[in-house]
Amino acid sequence: MSSPGVAGSVSLSGGAGLDPQEVIALGDGVVILLDQTRLPGEVVYRRLASWQEVESAIRELAVRGAPAIGIAGAMGVALAAQLADHDDIEAYRTTVLGAAAALAAARPTAANLSWAIARQGEILAGHPGPTEAMTASLRLFAKRLHDAEVARCRAMGAHGATLLHRGARIMTICNTGALATGGYGTALGVVRSAYAADPSIRVIACETRPLLQGARLTAWELERDGIPFVLITDSMAASLMAAGEVTHVIVGADRIAANGDVVNKIGTYALAVLAREHGIPFIVSAPTSTIDLETATAAEVLIEERAAAEVHEIALFGRSAAPAGVAVRNPAFDRTPARLVTAIVTEQGVHRPPFADTLRTAAAAADPLAADLTRSTTSTPNT
Ligand code: MRU
Repeated sequence: MSSPGVAGSVSLSGGAGLDPQEVIALGDGVVILLDQTRLPGEVVYRRLASWQEVESAIRELAVRGAPAIGIAGAMGVALAAQLADHDDIEAYRTTVLGAAAALAAARPTAANLSWAIARQGEILAGHPGPTEAMTASLRLFAKRLHDAEVARCRAMGAHGATLLHRGARIMTICNTGALATGGYGTALGVVRSAYAADPSIRVIACETRPLLQGARLTAWELERDGIPFVLITDSMAASLMAAGEVTHVIVGADRIAANGDVVNKIGTYALAVLAREHGIPFIVSAPTSTIDLETATAAEVLIEERAAAEVHEIALFGRSAAPAGVAVRNPAFDRTPARLVTAIVTEQGVHRPPFADTLRTAAAAADPLAADLTRSTTSTPNT
């Protein structure tokens, strides 16, 4: 990688995948991230020098994808801590907790953002101080979380690949790759792992209206990796399934409820319904940090409604496609009922319906790791 520390166009390392540090990194007084709003045309880094800039980057989708915004949020808290007044421990706590609350609210749907920030809150609450050591612990957690999420993705990739057969034709939506997770990917992690063993697999990437994460980001990642794919508009999914061109649908998740309902990018539910109609396995790949056992079903999940401009602004033939000012709806996510899900893949393994017990067991198995991640940061302040 040529110096992502410098804002502006840079060239990335070649070869398979993106190096996790090429996606997002916590520096000294700065969070550096690959600006996903500029891809695929330009590889540009943003240097974020305050937690407020991290919050804006999350809102604007310069960093996006459930695990990636969790990592960015944790780094934002660490940045707030580093820049806070270290002389007064109460003022320090107030500043950091205020930043944490604002960062958690930047995007409401993905479980990972509030999960990661809650872990930072636990570190802060349980830390004896002094403030310098607290800051070191918050920084260490953010970095370890990044490593842990990438490791989870690699484990999911290996588990998920066992569900595929030779020559699988995998339909996917949104971007679930290294960009969305800080490295490797959830659904695209399964694709990466499967492709390494079987180069005859193929991907069908839905462009993913309105913000085209599939067209802009998944296509960019797959092309860099040399994984064969075709890009389709979302409305082509049904007819390709009917024509027998799809063997599996694999998607990520922003939040998985305790009963196995899945909240993910708008359009996911449509693919699940279509997959059921055509007898195609519908597989969800997500780390345990995306499972929300406090939420009984997806009906309880707040769906982010984004600005109308994102729908209005699509331009064709040199002008906006829709008449100016028409009313639009723009929910960013939808809810897929557990009954349409064939399997959920986490870093703990492959989970089959009914999901309630197996998800609870997976989350419990992951818990000591999360607790360890939190605990060890309070006792290792030197970073
Ligand atoms: O609005 P986005 O681009 O953040 O939405 C991302 C998704 O919906 C992904 O499918 C999801 O985060 C899971 S993959 C990391």
